[in-house]
Amino acid sequence: MTTNQIRDLHEVTEDKENGLIFEKNVSVPLKASNLPVRCNVYRPIAPADAKFPVLITYGPYGKDIPYDNFFAKSFSEVNPEHKSKYSAWETPDPVFWTSKGYVVVRADERGLGQSPGLLDTMSRGTSECFFDVVEWAADQEWSSGKVGLLGISYYAGSQWRVAARRPKGLAAIIPWEGMTDYYRDRCRHGGIFSNSFIKFWWNRQVITNQYGRPGRAASKWGEDTIEGDLPDDVLAQNRNDQNTDNEKNRFLDDEYYASKEFNLEDIEVPILSVANWGGILLHLRGNVNGYAWAGSKLKYLRFITGRHDLPFYYKEEVEVQQSFLDAFLKDDDRVGWSVPGKVSPVSVILRKGDVGFNNPEAEKKYVRREESAWPIPGTQYTKFHLTPENTLESTSPKIDSSKVLSYEALGSLEKPQLIQFTSAPFEQDTEITGHVTAHLNVSMTPDSLATSPEKEIDLFLTLRYISPSGKEVFYTGTAGDPVPLTKGWLRASLRKIASEHPRNSSYQPYREYRSTDVQEVKPDTVYAVDVEIWPTNVVAEKGGRIVLEVSSGDTQGSGIFTHTSEVDRPKEKFSGKNHMHFGEGLENYVTLPVIPAR
Ligand SMILES: *[C@@H]1O[C@H](CO)[C@@H](O)[C@H](O)[C@H]1NC(C)=O
Ligand SMILES: *[C@@H]1O[C@H](CO)[C@@H](O)[C@H](O)[C@H]1NC(C)=O
Ligand SMILES: *[C@@H]1O[C@H](CO)[C@@H](O)[C@H](O)[C@H]1NC(C)=O
Repeated sequence: MTTNQIRDLHEVTEDKENGLIFEKNVSVPLKASNLPVRCNVYRPIAPADAKFPVLITYGPYGKDIPYDNFFAKSFSEVNPEHKSKYSAWETPDPVFWTSKGYVVVRADERGLGQSPGLLDTMSRGTSECFFDVVEWAADQEWSSGKVGLLGISYYAGSQWRVAARRPKGLAAIIPWEGMTDYYRDRCRHGGIFSNSFIKFWWNRQVITNQYGRPGRAASKWGEDTIEGDLPDDVLAQNRNDQNTDNEKNRFLDDEYYASKEFNLEDIEVPILSVANWGGILLHLRGNVNGYAWAGSKLKYLRFITGRHDLPFYYKEEVEVQQSFLDAFLKDDDRVGWSVPGKVSPVSVILRKGDVGFNNPEAEKKYVRREESAWPIPGTQYTKFHLTPENTLESTSPKIDSSKVLSYEALGSLEKPQLIQFTSAPFEQDTEITGHVTAHLNVSMTPDSLATSPEKEIDLFLTLRYISPSGKEVFYTGTAGDPVPLTKGWLRASLRKIASEHPRNSSYQPYREYRSTDVQEVKPDTVYAVDVEIWPTNVVAEKGGRIVLEVSSGDTQGSGIFTHTSEVDRPKEKFSGKNHMHFGEGLENYVTLPVIPAR
């Protein structure tokens, strides 16, 4: 790796006002490199021989970028108990957690902030560096030897990857809205490149903090690099750009994606996986599957609602975090997390009624319920059949002759191309909680722009809820934006299901997305596809209705998570009409997880 001479600029300050000792720019040695990972260490003020459990975050957003600079608006809304001059985006506040007897270690990921080396987010290499940071923290003289991981989003996604490597000292993790599956959750939804968010994320808050990037201090984006700036060509050499890599690679057996795989089953530490029903385009699926597939004996799945940035700091949520961490890092288990069967493993929050979106006070009306397993025992997977009259019917419709519904290919958020199917009003309150799938018979007719010999169909499905008053209910999305119940995607050439895979189930089709799985899409040929729709919850009220929307591109509720790459969705393959087929032997249905009233 090209870099300047490594220097040691590490200093220790006692900050009596905030009750902590602050060690800045601490270098953590790595096993596989002479370059360090640098972190800030925040410790309770205590006698020299005192030992504390450690909470670590490892990620790209700058150990030295104040939350207030990173996202001023968001910071202004954070629970004041978790605001300090040390606060950083999506991480636990050092002043709060040191006051509770924890050391907080905030590390700059390799290649970012003050950590030299290759910037290669979410890679195997960077997860190995994180592994070294965990083992290092367990070994320090101020450390009790027990390490916990607590953080949102990136700082949650990274937890699964390092926990699967089982570093010494790791005692518990709380991945708070953290995806597990790089390909399926984040980069390629049903095989379709989720380019817009990656671009926003990379350009705004990753590359701007690259190690060696000039002008960071001047633009109030952390501090300039300890060893000095690096020239542009060296910076370019020192990074793997997620925009270009995801555009270039399409299949899970491409080295790029394959190298990022790990086994959730390898995780053994206790997990509290926190999933947000509103996180329908990035983290939700990973928190649910992470819980389901992790090897840990003690694992918990907690659903929340609300925005992506704020609930982590709510008083009642911090109490849950602290009681979980105290149980496994301090042997102070006040509620029974460490006793199998004592605490319900699954805690669902039930979205009933129209409380508006981005309104935390109003969302307090939602009721929480404990469950013994996921999916919820007794779930009745119920088929709702799509009809050519745009309805959803609970019984299989008799369709005497074949019918076709058509819409333009290559829809987009600006120009959506869609068909909707609406259920009859529910006759009683009906809870839907769990995994959703849709089975559809689809085809495409190319037009003159579809010049490639290869043809393709991208399916974008959305599940919506209409209140008894006839108005669509929107829920709080990641950024406080209005979102529907949930979404699902599939690229038709990647329709092949790994039927024998242990993760495949009737309620969640599992795909391997290999280059060898590609199946041809011929013009005017009907294909049956099973589309995975991300898990959801709603209590449909008496008189309420469900809508399934089938589209050829992003529709309302996609926010900044759109799929608009012309490299990934070229008109040469897609352009023309998409169809849904109805008739004898051409069944179309969405399967909803209905929870019987108890
Ligand atoms: C940490 O590194 C920054 C960037 O070089 C430097 O400005 C600062 O003085 C260092 N701080 C301490 C406390 O070592
Ligand atoms: C795999 O999943 C699909 C779709 O969910 C389902 O139809 C099929 O029965 C599953 N196969 C097995 C062996 O469970
Ligand atoms: C349409 O779907 C049905 C199942 O509902 C499937 O059996 C059938 O093979 C599909 N039709 C075609 C033409 O692929």
